[in-house]
Amino acid sequence: MLKGKVAVVTGASRGIGEAIALKLASLGADIAVIYAGNSLAAQNVCDHCREDYGVKASAYQCDVSSFETAKQTVAAIKADFGTVHILVNNAGITRDGLCAMMKEEDFDAVLDTNLKGAFHMIRHCTGMFLKNREGCIINIASVVGLTGNAGQSNYAASKAGLIGLTKSIAKELAPRGIRCNAIAPGFIKTDMTESQADNPLLAAVPLGRMGEPADVADAAAYLATAGYVTGEVLRIDGGIAM
Ligand code: NAI
Repeated sequence: MLKGKVAVVTGASRGIGEAIALKLASLGADIAVIYAGNSLAAQNVCDHCREDYGVKASAYQCDVSSFETAKQTVAAIKADFGTVHILVNNAGITRDGLCAMMKEEDFDAVLDTNLKGAFHMIRHCTGMFLKNREGCIINIASVVGLTGNAGQSNYAASKAGLIGLTKSIAKELAPRGIRCNAIAPGFIKTDMTESQADNPLLAAVPLGRMGEPADVADAAAYLATAGYVTGEVLRIDGGIAM
């Protein structure tokens, strides 16, 4: 289904990003794995893509919050793969705390990675999308970007910003055949939510359980192939934000 396509997935050495990279590889896409620090984990994801799905896969260390580093990384991916067709902005961090006591650096770090990081990657990949007259951008937002959440003002602001970015890019680039959508996951079982297993909010999930990274990866695969869908925010949240 995605044979001949090149997909870049940020934060793909573990968690939701890893699941998305493997899912897109299973559909035939070649994969560029962008990781922040764990090169062994990133290489394992590449090995898995190559050995299980027979696609090309390479890992790139990149801090997406840096405009210049993101630019150099996209240039390296272009040199290795020739082009990019699918960009998944998945890299994200939390620095939770009440706004009244939040350090400026914690607000900035979350905005710089979650929101500006996505802008950097889109900014540097769009030239290739325009040249190809096709492109698919998938931004991993969060239900807290839709609802807000006490103790997560920085994170919720970054994810709400990502939704605004998604819709603006979708409008800007639709005439050029480029689609941009967001996924808003709820509680998904990963390292990020390790400490959330007894979060009382979990009882409010209508489907009564946390989601799996594969649930989000299935949504990414859908958006990667849904040619008539753009500017959408797809909740994968067991119903918690309905
Ligand atoms: P995770 O913490 O396991 O994975 C995040 C990945 O992003 C890590 O591999 C990390 O190294 C990478 N990363 C962080 N900063 C980076 C940077 N500056 N440059 C490059 N890579 C960087 O978390 P998880 O749960 O897999 O999250 C993936 C995405 O899904 C994040 O954007 C997160 O906000 C979002 N999300 C997760 C939910 C959950 O319940 N797990 C719920 C809603 C959204």
